[in-house]
Amino acid sequence: MPKPKVFATHRLFEAARKILQETCEVEYWAKPERPPREEVLQRLKDKEGLISLLTEKVNEELLKAAPKLRIAANVAVGFDNIDVAACTKRGVVATNTPGVLDETTADFAWTLLMAVARRLSEGEALARSGNWKNWDLDQLVGTDVWGKTLGIVGFGRIGRAVARRASGFQMKVIYTDAVRAAADVEKELKAEFRDMNALLTESDFISVHVPLLPETRRLFDAAKFDQMKRTAFLINTSRGQVVDEATLVAALEAGKIAGAGLDVYENEPLIHPRLKRTNVVLAPHMASASLETRTKMACIAAENVVALFKGQRPANVLNPEVLKAP
Ligand code: DGY
Repeated sequence: MPKPKVFATHRLFEAARKILQETCEVEYWAKPERPPREEVLQRLKDKEGLISLLTEKVNEELLKAAPKLRIAANVAVGFDNIDVAACTKRGVVATNTPGVLDETTADFAWTLLMAVARRLSEGEALARSGNWKNWDLDQLVGTDVWGKTLGIVGFGRIGRAVARRASGFQMKVIYTDAVRAAADVEKELKAEFRDMNALLTESDFISVHVPLLPETRRLFDAAKFDQMKRTAFLINTSRGQVVDEATLVAALEAGKIAGAGLDVYENEPLIHPRLKRTNVVLAPHMASASLETRTKMACIAAENVVALFKGQRPANVLNPEVLKAP
């Protein structure tokens, strides 16, 4: 029996390649830059499986170019790059990689929070520049993190992992979400529910952890920045499109908020040029980028593909109705 053909838009990691090798014949894109769209479409003509990153739009155009495709495995938990309905219509199973990146992403939300509050980018630039002349009492004074109020927008796995870390900083944790967490969760994390308006006005740091959905697109707009404290910081490790970038720039320029720590952008990899300010810490969408976590993400995507081709149910199916079809 010939093995099912799979195209992976990345070389993945050795551990993931091992998972795939027995069951599938995999063609890997090995160049460091992302494959041009035309190349992806061309390579998918005879493939039954696709393993791709969040930079690849799995949409009608791609599905049309891949008539044999049975599974599209995203190496990411967010799947706003996948048109799940289009996959379902064509009987293609779509999968993602939830669960393994929560703690790593939460670590990084804290990295950004600490860095922007304590002006680490400016301090590091000064330390490296050769222009640091002396210690001074008011040099690079930032703002305290400990004892402040942390507002979490989106209280899923990652939001809760961020909350868990706050107790060491003696912070008050408040959160908002479409669904209020169970009382035992609130108790364990010492987190209090607020509606969005109260969260905006009370928080010293706001960390965003919502998926990109029609209702969360540009959730942070001018009105939200108007409600935030002038001393507050916005941290975003979710999706860039959750924040209206132009109004964030305007809020920063007008001093409506104190600063921002950003890992994601509206038009990645482009970054609004006026976000390149000293009170903004910028990172290139790297919150889940630890070797351990990225390896696990690649392995989960590989396992999802292998499971399907072995006639099993992949663990992370986004459109289970495809598997129920006769
Ligand atoms: C995701 O998985 O959705 C992140 O944005 C990248 O890890």
